[in-house]
Amino acid sequence: MKILVTGGAGFIGSHLTDKLLEEGNSVVVYDNLSLGRLENLDEASKNPNFKFVEGDILDREKFWNVFKTHNFDIVFHMAANSDIAKSHANPDVDFDNTFKTTYETLLAMKEFGIKKLVFASTSAIYGEAHVSVDETYGPLFPASHYGASKLASEGFIASFCENYGIQAWITRFPNVVGERSTHGVIRDFIKKLKKTPDCLEVLGNGMQYKPYVYVKDLVDAILFVWKNTDDKINYFNIGVETRTRVKEIAQMVIEEMGLNARIEYTGGDRGWVGDVPEFSYNLDKIHKLGWKASYTSNEAVRKAIQYILEMDKCSL
Ligand SMILES: NC(=O)c1ccc[n+]([C@@H]2O[C@H](COP(=O)([O-])OP(=O)(O)OC[C@H]3O[C@@H](n4cnc5c(N)ncnc54)[C@H](O)[C@@H]3O)[C@@H](O)[C@H]2O)c1
Repeated sequence: MKILVTGGAGFIGSHLTDKLLEEGNSVVVYDNLSLGRLENLDEASKNPNFKFVEGDILDREKFWNVFKTHNFDIVFHMAANSDIAKSHANPDVDFDNTFKTTYETLLAMKEFGIKKLVFASTSAIYGEAHVSVDETYGPLFPASHYGASKLASEGFIASFCENYGIQAWITRFPNVVGERSTHGVIRDFIKKLKKTPDCLEVLGNGMQYKPYVYVKDLVDAILFVWKNTDDKINYFNIGVETRTRVKEIAQMVIEEMGLNARIEYTGGDRGWVGDVPEFSYNLDKIHKLGWKASYTSNEAVRKAIQYILEMDKCSL
């Protein structure tokens, strides 16, 4: 198949690209490198079925040119702003890069008659739910501009499916960790401890409790859902049932760095405005379909810490 991966130079998109190439597809990655890195595509670049185009999805002429040049069978839309805290200061960041990139992708698909879309959505659309959420949970009131932009994206995906005969696979991820991650709590803790090895300041009370899924499990699940469902709109929570508290992550990072740091909590129940401190997924739907993650949340976190520390050693 001929596949477009938007945001394919990013953390998840690059793993997805590797897997799609490994399965024998031709892949074009379109990415403006605002958050992604070319090194993430080192492996992919060795494959003759791979092509990278640097560009912004909001640059319609350039984006449409890619569709003119290639006759895509399907689009995997992974591009978005991935820094939730950043858009608290400037909501445009998510309106443009999380919502409008989806809208522009849909418009291009309509224009060039592409009928299949796989979309990277998020648990952030559910907002601060106090129950274990399944795919029918509502009302949907996101706590972040990021979650709101993803929810609006899902809305437009649904209306484009209805109006123009597009078929969609909406996959909702929780926190994703692993090789090539560019942001998130693990990186923040490592960075802080490098500055002050005897003390780690943790935002909130450390009790934040969420599922962390390993990136290769996630990619496996996205492809599993795509290959095993065939409704007009297929929508799934993807994740792990287990969860990890922020204080456990702090302890694991300290341990893996071989330090003896004390942990200081700033207080309050959350890290920043827009953060959802406790979250749990009901995964019955994807489990019934036949997919389960191979790593628990704690295992995924530890694996991610070890990888980042190893990479840091290599770059010294
Ligand atoms: N990482 C997570 O924990 C997580 C959780 C839930 C959902 N998601 C979603 O998964 C997808 C991938 O996330 P990620 O963690 O790999 O983030 P990432 O920042 O590593 O990747 C996003 C990529 O999109 C690109 N991009 C952003 N705006 C663009 C634009 N206007 N035009 C072209 N390219 C643009 C960036 O350069 C980057 O390479 C995103 O849609 C994100 O919202 C991620």
